[in-house]
Amino acid sequence: MSQTTVNRPLLEDRSFLKHFWHPVCTINELETANPSGLGPLAATLLGQKLVIAKLGGKVVALEDRCAHRFAALSKGTVEGDRIRCNYHGWRYDATGKTTLIPACPELPIPRKAATPAFECEVRYDLVWVRLDSSWNCTEIPYFSEWTNPEMRNVVAPSYMWATASERRWENFPDLSHFAFVHPGTLYDPAYDRPPIPTVDRVAGELRFAITPPPEMLENLPENCPIGTFTYRCTMPFSINLIIKLYKDDTTFTLWTTSSPVDDENCRNFMIISRKKKDDDPDHVHLAFQKLVLQEDQPIIESQWPRQISMDEVSLGTDKVSNQYRKWLRELSLAAPQGKEAFLAALHSNVIDEAHVAPAPSAEAAA
Ligand code: FES
Ligand SMILES: [Fe+2]
Repeated sequence: MSQTTVNRPLLEDRSFLKHFWHPVCTINELETANPSGLGPLAATLLGQKLVIAKLGGKVVALEDRCAHRFAALSKGTVEGDRIRCNYHGWRYDATGKTTLIPACPELPIPRKAATPAFECEVRYDLVWVRLDSSWNCTEIPYFSEWTNPEMRNVVAPSYMWATASERRWENFPDLSHFAFVHPGTLYDPAYDRPPIPTVDRVAGELRFAITPPPEMLENLPENCPIGTFTYRCTMPFSINLIIKLYKDDTTFTLWTTSSPVDDENCRNFMIISRKKKDDDPDHVHLAFQKLVLQEDQPIIESQWPRQISMDEVSLGTDKVSNQYRKWLRELSLAAPQGKEAFLAALHSNVIDEAHVAPAPSAEAAA
C-alpha cells in the first residue's frame, strides 16, 4: 500500500517577506548591464518583476512593465533622469510616472499612465529593494566590516540556486554538514559530531558562536578560513560571520544574504572581508568560496520540496536551524495580525537558557 507523504510547509503565507529589505543585484551588475553604465537591468523579487536603473544619478526600482501595452521596461533605454519604453517610446521618471507620450505629446497624459515604484537603496555596493514599505519597520541587514578601514571588502558576483531562500540560509551555518559536504575543504571529516551552541535572538538577529578544534588547521588548505566563528544573522536571510583565524589571529568575515526571487528560487550575495595585506589577491579568496559553493549547491538543490517542510526530522544537533525555523514561522504567523504583532515577533529577544544553566552542585557531583 502506498502512503502519501505529508508535507506541511513551514511558511504557509510568505507575504511577510515583502516587509524586509532584500538585495536584487550588485552595483557592478547594474553598471555592466548596459554600455551606458546606467542599466536598465531586469530583476525579480518575491515574484515581482522589477526594472533597476540609474535615473539622474539615483538608482530606482520600478515594476518592469510599461502601462501602455505592457512591454518590459528592462528592454528600454535610460535617457538622463528618464527611462524610455522601447516599444512606443513612453518616458517614465524615477517615481514611475509617464512624462512623455511621443504619439500625442500635446494631449494630457492619462492618470493611469504610471508603473509602481518601490523603495530602493544602495548599500554595501548592493541594490536593495523593499516591496512593502507601509509598516516601515525593518532595516537593511547588519554588516560589521563595510566601513572598517583595516578591512578589504570584495563583493562577489551574485549567483542563483534552485531552492527557497530559507533553505539556502540554513545551509550556510548548518554545523553538521561541514564534515560531509566539505571534507578537507572547510573541515576535518574526523570531527563529524557538531558543536551545539547557545542560540539567542537579539534585536532582530539570531546570534551564536562556535569554536572548532584548532587541531583541524593541520589538515586543511592554506586558504581555509578556520578559527572561532561568531554569527550575527539579521532575519530573515542575512548572515554576518566573523572568523578569528587560528593561523594569525586576524579577522576574516563572510557576509551573505539570500534574496527570494520567488517561492522556490533565490539569488545569493556574498561579501568577503579580510584584513588588508600585500600579496593577498582577491581571486584566490573568490575561487575558494566558489569551490565551497559548488560542494553545497547540488545537495541543497536536491532537497524537495524546495520550501522547508514541517515534516522533516529535526535533532537536537540541528539547534541553529530549529531556532531559525521557529522564528521564521512566528514572523509569518504574526504578520497577518498586523504591524504591532509583526514587530513584537521581530523584536522578541530570547536568551538561550543554556547560558544560565546552573553548574552541577557539589551534592549532585558527590
Ligand atoms: S508598450 Fe511601452 S510605449 Fe507602448
Ligand atoms: Fe556548506
